[in-house]
Amino acid sequence: MLSYQQEAFGTTGDGAPIQLYTLSNANGVQVAISDYGGIVTRLLVPGRDGNLEDVVLGYDSLSDYLRASPYFGAIVGRYGNRIAKGRFTLDGVEYRLATNNGPNHLHGGLQGFDKVVWDAEPYRAADEVGLRLGYVSEDGEEGYPGRLAVTITYALTNRNELRIEYRAETDKPTVVNLTHHSYFNLAGHASGDILGHELMINADRFTPVDEGLIPTGELRDVTGTPLDFRTATAIGARIDDDYEQLRFAGGYDHNWVLNDYDGSLRLVARAHEPTSGRVMEVYTTEPGMQFYSGNFLDGSNVGKGGVPYQHRTGFCLETQHFPDSPNHPEFPSTVLRPGEVYESTTIYRFSVR
Ligand code: GLA
Repeated sequence: MLSYQQEAFGTTGDGAPIQLYTLSNANGVQVAISDYGGIVTRLLVPGRDGNLEDVVLGYDSLSDYLRASPYFGAIVGRYGNRIAKGRFTLDGVEYRLATNNGPNHLHGGLQGFDKVVWDAEPYRAADEVGLRLGYVSEDGEEGYPGRLAVTITYALTNRNELRIEYRAETDKPTVVNLTHHSYFNLAGHASGDILGHELMINADRFTPVDEGLIPTGELRDVTGTPLDFRTATAIGARIDDDYEQLRFAGGYDHNWVLNDYDGSLRLVARAHEPTSGRVMEVYTTEPGMQFYSGNFLDGSNVGKGGVPYQHRTGFCLETQHFPDSPNHPEFPSTVLRPGEVYESTTIYRFSVR
């Protein structure tokens, strides 16, 4: 049966009470989402044998998220991914953002949408249960222009889909690029590395980067490179190949130029974990997707149940516009103007094989 539950999840440093909402569908699939950062803390999904496992990395307590989290399960904004040197020019005005990733700006800055408290309202409909999150980012927050009103809807459907709808409006021209940062491990969050997952990405090209992971502007054909995932391939099969792009990122941490971008939803990726049989398909309206293979995990984040998350034990499929688009007029635009509505949808659909 579709249901939701709400429980206290602690308080922030400023004393704001934080809630955890648990949504369940008719098949026993369960997702827990916090109004702190819109963080998905738990996602229980059945395997081939019917066993439910928690397939996302995360922490047991709010205090761990407050202390240090590499964006586990969070909503990322205003701008997911990097903006070179934290600078961009819009309508002739230069804006300066925090540089929180070497010389560059990453994932919205020092206090991005992963670290703010959202208004939250659970709902139940005919075929899904969900959580509506709202946040107003004030003009100038983290250096971005315009007062941005954001709504995120998480929905868990009876088709075993986690659907995320993003919506935003501004009162001044600005840039927006929202995404979701769950680290998946379809064998279970505590099961070790993700290298045996077979991954398909429906993309003929990717955006090569420099050492700082900033796109050079080139759209490179994946043919003959370790980034060709058009046929499902184990994540670990080529991850340590001697290829400059993999060396720069310490593995996969790149934006794929997804095929057939016209703003409508289409299948862009499929991950399959052979031992459990779990399959996750990704559908999105976005032109790009960052596939990050958890290269920065090193055991220092001790997660749920006391499990230290070692190197490459989770992977992210972050649907998005291309990194550093504000400085690349040739990329699909991330500019949002007053009167326009930013809308984006991504679905993570779970099944077994
Ligand atoms: C994104 C980035 C990575 C890394 C992770 C978080 O995937 O592209 O480089 O910052 O987030 O650690």
